[in-house]
Amino acid sequence: MTLVLALPGAAPLAAQLASRLACEHALVDVHRFPDGEQRVRVDAPVAGRPVVLVADLAHPDDKVLPLLFAVDVLRELGATRVGLVAPYLPYLRQDSRFHPGEAVSSRTFARLLSDRFDFLVTVEPHLHRWHSLADIFRPPSCAVSAAKPMAQWIRRHVERPHLVGPDTESRQWVARIAAELDAPFTVLHKARSGDAEVRIEDAHALPPGFTPVVVDDIVSSGGTLLAAAGMARAGHCVCVHALHDAVAAQRLAAAGIALASCDTVAHPSNAITVVAELAAAVRALGFP
Ligand code: R5P
Repeated sequence: MTLVLALPGAAPLAAQLASRLACEHALVDVHRFPDGEQRVRVDAPVAGRPVVLVADLAHPDDKVLPLLFAVDVLRELGATRVGLVAPYLPYLRQDSRFHPGEAVSSRTFARLLSDRFDFLVTVEPHLHRWHSLADIFRPPSCAVSAAKPMAQWIRRHVERPHLVGPDTESRQWVARIAAELDAPFTVLHKARSGDAEVRIEDAHALPPGFTPVVVDDIVSSGGTLLAAAGMARAGHCVCVHALHDAVAAQRLAAAGIALASCDTVAHPSNAITVVAELAAAVRALGFP
């Protein structure tokens, strides 16, 4: 019988996933020593069982080593297969050597996971120059779409929505959600001059009679949403992965922006669940 195991930060999502899959769930214990190193311990009985490891990989640097320790110990303890559900897959934005000497982190990170896991399920990975997860991830994988739950949220909360994507990379998300809603959409052009310095390059007058809703995959500094919502005069924003901190959240709130995010990353803005989609993907990959 499949066991769903949560790394720290992913317990609520893992419990919901296990309930959808009708299987047991447990926690991986991670202890941090005073020097910062981490010890991983699996208490649950895993011998002879397939395991689905659920990990919140937002702000990944402290979480990746425990993840690797966990998958190794699971195999040593006799788990028959170990799949990874990482609703947010980090390090994908660096999918090219944009400037001389830069590491292509998406390739390295995918290789780390490919060597260890039997499958990967994630949500709306930031694929741009890579066309699919299979370009960089060897085992079977599934990129779950959040378009339907995001569209449902918009349908319930916004009258006559006109979707706005802040940059050309957002077209893939905006177009799919707009199709679900049968709503119009506009894609803006963004110029980034620093980590948080973003400006929209084109002035767009949106058609009257609609409510603008800015849609993006990731909120990090919040600069993109601020600029796009300012240009579109939008009060509603919807994103997949909310990675931003409290300071950025305050800045968005002060600008009159109400943000609804998916529960791929635990965040106060979570309003949209993708658990049903995650469970369907895990089942499609042959678990439980
Ligand atoms: C960019 O390629 C992404 O789709 C997001 O627009 C970006 O990561 C948002 O970052 P920030 O919130 O720092 O502007």
